[in-house]
Amino acid sequence: MKGHPKASPLYLPDWQYVEKTSLEDFTRADWNLLGTQRTRYYADEQAKHVLRMLAASEHDATFGYQVNNYRHSLQSATMALRDGLDEEDVVVALLHDIGFIACPQRHGEFAAALLGAYVSERNEWMLRRHAIFQDVHAHHHPDADQQARERWRGHPHFEWAATFVARYDQATVDPAYECAPLEHFEPMVKRLFARPPRPMPLPD
Ligand SMILES: [Fe+2]
Ligand SMILES: [Fe+2]
Repeated sequence: MKGHPKASPLYLPDWQYVEKTSLEDFTRADWNLLGTQRTRYYADEQAKHVLRMLAASEHDATFGYQVNNYRHSLQSATMALRDGLDEEDVVVALLHDIGFIACPQRHGEFAAALLGAYVSERNEWMLRRHAIFQDVHAHHHPDADQQARERWRGHPHFEWAATFVARYDQATVDPAYECAPLEHFEPMVKRLFARPPRPMPLPD
């Protein structure tokens, strides 16, 4: 089936459209077709799409830090790499602020939602709360709550969250730091998203 003249192009030339315009009309065969094509599409495209999200910010201006969010992300990942952290932690560092501009108030949850199914519970926990752990380093920020992280004191992942922000977040805004290029991290991002996703709990 060729599809509507204004239809988006198919990813592969031998694929087929489901030409119905309401999901209510899809047959089981239609869903099976979509499922097959979807599996290949995500395997090829998910990591590349995430990398494009970050790459799109490469030349962004900054509101005052000496580096933009892209360079902060690269410095964080490069330092994690040079410290010998494992590949998952390096990718988590690279993507921990992927939502910082689009979703500033909830950017930790943004990253946790993006990566949570593919990383350890330790990293999902840290990502979700990292901005709150950062507060302890913002000594003179008018809204930072130095005590905010204390509600999680004693949690098994508390020390990792504290270490991550101390080493790879609060001090990774240095314009003189020689970062590895994004291309260096691309195979790592692809390997992470190629992991079988963990089931994520439904919202309440
Ligand atoms: Fe952040
Ligand atoms: Fe950050």
